Amino acid sequence: MAITELMRLWGQHAAKKAQPARTALDHADAIDSTSPPANRPGETRRKRLTWRQRGPEGTMPDMQAPKTPEYTAEYDAIIVGAGFSGLYQLHALRDRLGLSVRVLEAGDGVGGTWYWNRYPGARCDSESYYYSYSFSKELEQEWEWSERYPEQPEIMRYLNHAAERFGLKRDIQFGTRVTHAAFDEAAGRWQVATEAGERFSAQFLITAVGCLSSTNVPKIPGLESFAGEWHHTGRWPHGGVDFRGKRVGLVGTGSTGIQATPVIARDARHLTVFQRTANYSIPARNGPMSAEARAEIKRNYAAIREKSRGSTNGHPWDISAASALDAGPEERMALYEDAWKVGGLRFRAAFKDLLSHPEANETASEFIRGKIREVVHDPATAELLTPRDHGFATKRPPIDTEYFETFNRDNVSLVDVRAHPIEAISRDGLRTTEGEHKLDMIVFATGFDAMTGPLLAMDIRGRGGAALAEAWTAGPRTYLGLQVAGFPNLLTITGPGSPSVLCNMPTAIEQHVDWITDCIRHLRDHRLARIEARAEAAERWVAQVNEAAHATLLPTAASSWYLGANVPGKPRVFMPYAGGLARYAGICREVAANGYEGFVLGR
Ligand SMILES: Cc1cc2nc3c(=O)[nH]c(=O)nc-3n(C[C@H](O)[C@H](O)[C@H](O)COP(=O)(O)OP(=O)(O)OC[C@H]3O[C@@H](n4cnc5c(N)ncnc54)[C@H](O)[C@@H]3O)c2cc1C
Ligand SMILES: NC(=O)c1ccc[n+]([C@@H]2O[C@H](COP(=O)([O-])OP(=O)(O)OC[C@H]3O[C@@H](n4cnc5c(N)ncnc54)[C@H](OP(=O)(O)O)[C@@H]3O)[C@@H](O)[C@H]2O)c1
Repeated sequence: MAITELMRLWGQHAAKKAQPARTALDHADAIDSTSPPANRPGETRRKRLTWRQRGPEGTMPDMQAPKTPEYTAEYDAIIVGAGFSGLYQLHALRDRLGLSVRVLEAGDGVGGTWYWNRYPGARCDSESYYYSYSFSKELEQEWEWSERYPEQPEIMRYLNHAAERFGLKRDIQFGTRVTHAAFDEAAGRWQVATEAGERFSAQFLITAVGCLSSTNVPKIPGLESFAGEWHHTGRWPHGGVDFRGKRVGLVGTGSTGIQATPVIARDARHLTVFQRTANYSIPARNGPMSAEARAEIKRNYAAIREKSRGSTNGHPWDISAASALDAGPEERMALYEDAWKVGGLRFRAAFKDLLSHPEANETASEFIRGKIREVVHDPATAELLTPRDHGFATKRPPIDTEYFETFNRDNVSLVDVRAHPIEAISRDGLRTTEGEHKLDMIVFATGFDAMTGPLLAMDIRGRGGAALAEAWTAGPRTYLGLQVAGFPNLLTITGPGSPSVLCNMPTAIEQHVDWITDCIRHLRDHRLARIEARAEAAERWVAQVNEAAHATLLPTAASSWYLGANVPGKPRVFMPYAGGLARYAGICREVAANGYEGFVLGR
């Protein structure tokens, strides 16, 4: 089936009324039924099992190990993180190469993003059928997605199913946060330490820590004195949160705030949204996945995946070949109206130059501003919700289910914290320079210390004890987003300098995992023990990352987390590679084909 046919099927959904999102309490009911019991440190430790000692299928007998700081468990590879990345990397290294592998995961279950982000309204904005693994045809065929954009519990079920199907959980140690990792040059191994004081050693250290896993809670004076509950959306309580009868304040209007606002508003006595930067948002047009659409997708998965891998953003659809500036005003409006009806991130693909030409971008930005004015009844609120300081999609574009409509409710108000910044939190609420807002609960939808945050939090030390934090004082510097000069055998899945967050991430993740797996296979086949990026190759790559970013409008949004602008004091550097996934994957293939050009391989 052609991809356009899939769009037709989704177009039919768009015509239907969007499914109401689940309420906060529905959400709470659904949580954790799929969470595995925690595999506590020390339960299934394997002692000094090496490449040569492994069993025929890469499986090894469990050994009980004393939980003492002196004990070091040895593996071929340690993977940090058990989300989409860590799970697939474990499968690839253990089941394809036969390595002894341990995954260390801070959470008590698999899922990563979907384990932590259980806030009301949490769902993906990639469409379900391609927000999924492609590495197993069987998994692809057996899994049934229920909606165009499934909610957090469904994605958790999917990842738990994948982990169980491939027997991954037995090699994951949950409830284990890595706090230190240092390269032992003499041994040629990484020494890894956890918060609980356990020690591990491995030839390869692979970070699968996610780009959006280090939460950003603003340091607002007085937060500790607040008498009510407060939560960050990325650390949402597993038992759910009851908003009924409460005056809730929500800080942040990124993708998360925009998803959570309509759902919280339905339950809360009053919801006050504290907005610093007004945002564009496209209707998601969520709906159930029909049996017909599911069957068509399954029949056409090979073509869908090929299209995703060959695309700029890892999505299985084309970006229009037309310029927004070549179309006449009526034709342009008609195309935008059609794209608005289909909804979702595809809107960005309506014209080829929305992210490269300011005037083209302005046509889309103005179209969306018009929609906000149409939807929001109160003109002052509509104006406040209208983004004017950046162009559409120059920040990560959210998609929504009745976000702007929610501001027509009597129990919802909007506060402009750009004009009147937040000063402090008191026992009773939140104070801006304009006055106090009495609150029973505060929800921080304030995002993440993206891309570099989780890596720097691990206190990674390379050759000569050099700290990653020092190597990156002026911003991240990597070769291909996969390695850092001075840090041998450290491989970073979706690291800064790779397309990662500019893509449908499972597509980007699979490309990285496959490349890393092939690289380790190459080392083993050639009896090589080390790989390290050359400093000059990394410098050249950093220049290419900058060049790719500046060929787009992406660096023009001053408040974007792509630039680190959301975290006070963070260097303002455009972090992901904006040259497109297909081009990037081609570069990675070429580097490997040329004998891992730009890397030093050693014994
Ligand atoms: C709410 C939300 C919705 C999203 N929706 C989409 C979407 O629709 N489409 C899309 O493409 N992307 C989306 N993303 C991005 C999402 O992060 C990726 O799609 C994907 O889930 C990343 O998988 P990962 O395994 O690389 O990282 P994560 O899922 O972030 O997993 C990383 C894991 O590493 C663990 N970890 C981190 N540091 C340590 C440490 N020091 N020690 C031990 N463990 C550690 C964390 O606990 C976490 O479980 C979304 C992100 C968020 C926050
Ligand atoms: N699938 C999905 O639909 C989905 C859902 C959620 C998240 N995600 C992914 O996760 C990314 C992060 O999304 P996010 O919404 O969690 O974070 P975000 O995009 O960084 O948004 C954070 C919001 O909090 C505001 N904020 C931060 N600090 C503040 C402070 N001190 N005072 C007032 N406001 C403050 C920001 O304002 P400024 O803009 O002014 O900084 C912004 O509005 C997304 O871009 C997307 O990639 C996807």
